[in-house]
Amino acid sequence: AAVADRNIVSVLLEGLRRLEYRGYDSAGLALINEKGLHRLRSVGRVAELTAQADESQACGNTGIAHTRWATHGVPCERNAHPHISGGLAVVHNGIIENHEVLRARLKGDGYEFTSDTDTEVVAHLIASELKKNPDFFAATRAAIAQLQGAYALAVLRESEPDRVVVAREGSPLLLGLSTEGNYAASDASALLQVTRRIVYLDNGDCAELTRTGYRITRVDGTPVKRRETETHLSADAVELGQYRHYMQKEIFEQPVALSNTLEMLGAARSIQPGLFGANCEEVLKDIRQILIIACGTSYHAGLVARYWLESLARVPCTVEVASEYRYRDSVADPQTLVVTLSQSGETADTLAALQHAKSLGMHHTLCICNVPESSLVRENALRFITRAGPEIGVASTKAFTTQLAALYLLTLIIAKLRGNLSAETESAELQHLRHLPMAVSRVLELEPQIREWAEHFAMKQDALFLGRGRHYPIALEGALKLKEISYIHAEAYPAGELKHGPLALVDKDMPVIAVAPNDVLLEKLKSNLQEVRARGGELYVFADADSEIT
Ligand code: BG6
Repeated sequence: AAVADRNIVSVLLEGLRRLEYRGYDSAGLALINEKGLHRLRSVGRVAELTAQADESQACGNTGIAHTRWATHGVPCERNAHPHISGGLAVVHNGIIENHEVLRARLKGDGYEFTSDTDTEVVAHLIASELKKNPDFFAATRAAIAQLQGAYALAVLRESEPDRVVVAREGSPLLLGLSTEGNYAASDASALLQVTRRIVYLDNGDCAELTRTGYRITRVDGTPVKRRETETHLSADAVELGQYRHYMQKEIFEQPVALSNTLEMLGAARSIQPGLFGANCEEVLKDIRQILIIACGTSYHAGLVARYWLESLARVPCTVEVASEYRYRDSVADPQTLVVTLSQSGETADTLAALQHAKSLGMHHTLCICNVPESSLVRENALRFITRAGPEIGVASTKAFTTQLAALYLLTLIIAKLRGNLSAETESAELQHLRHLPMAVSRVLELEPQIREWAEHFAMKQDALFLGRGRHYPIALEGALKLKEISYIHAEAYPAGELKHGPLALVDKDMPVIAVAPNDVLLEKLKSNLQEVRARGGELYVFADADSEIT
């Protein structure tokens, strides 16, 4: 969203272009100029919307824009945002859970729906509130108070051309401030083109932006102040450079991301709890178990950490998928350290699960996160910021490896405080960590060989990933990556479980990928691989040079 002294069409389109990497199926914008409210929408790329804007010589000093990833209603122009009701236009990220009830009520009141989206409900709801209260900001807040679910919203009103109203609950939203106008976006990278002055909104915040200022209130209208920060995000860091896509770039950034994350260790031979926050030692001495909560790849990092925390630090650890934990009736122990893991620090389920844990009386909380200004970091007194740099690719890569490095540091600190880490081992472990960037670089040199495998692999319909011990979560992560990025169905199994069902699926069309480092479970894993061979399965093995897999 933008409200400025200049024509903001190019700012809006460039903002959408900057966020294209997140994936979308349609795009749109709404503008207000002296002729009134105008909307452009297109199914397809932002470039098509740009062509439409050029052709129609679109201009305006106030506008909102959006790329949509269909949730309610198929991808088509009719369902693309902005949605309009009378002279109002709305864009929305998130999902309105009570949209059906609201839709029925609004239809009863005579509102006509032209899309299948949950968002259109919001436009009509604000229009209906404006009939009771002509104040645009107040009416929008009254509408928002009736919404259940997650949203980041931006709203325009034709009759108030110098104003944009925004609100957030569960989806990220920030304001960008500048002398020539004010802006809002779901991610700072969209606004780097116009400003570095950012105000992050909290859940439940609403804001009214004009060309010269802004004000923030809670949904009930209570004014609140939020800190203005200067974003350190570098414009270069979000450029693709020599790489074909962001995921490739970020895979190759892992050695640097790890060195940056581990930089604070310097040449130290011992590790201090202060790395995780001022009173970390006190908190860690008071805990008797650990609960890790996360989603997706971050959840897999948590699963790996469980092996370390139990075997090295000797502290019981459970790992929960955030979207399950937040609704599960679980037993809480106040002497638990609740560890939330997230690249973005904005994953709604992880944030809600943390609130749930706190509401159950667990107040020792710590997060490992890659975005210092994120909601998650603000919610935790103890925190470790991974320094992976911006992760543009939606599927996490370098954030995962840096999360693992941070979790290993946490394990060493807890092991030390519990008397389970000798000075000698501590120094050796830190040495191993310092070697990590180099070791990862060696693995990345395998790219040509892996590319060859991939070409062979690309035609497959399904794949099975196997691992044992702490490499089982690595197999899970491999399967998640394959599904999310190539749309090939993949599953991961602890290799020992193979014979209890999935072996039946293995044949020449089912590639089996195994993670086989030279550890105590290697011989057992080799037997599992024999089972695959016996069924004619095609094996792809990631092994240490001395694993002796033939
Ligand atoms: C998903 C992404 O939407 O969110 C995954 O596709 C990611 O790659 C997951 O791991 C969790 O994100 P975050 O930011 O909380 O680590």
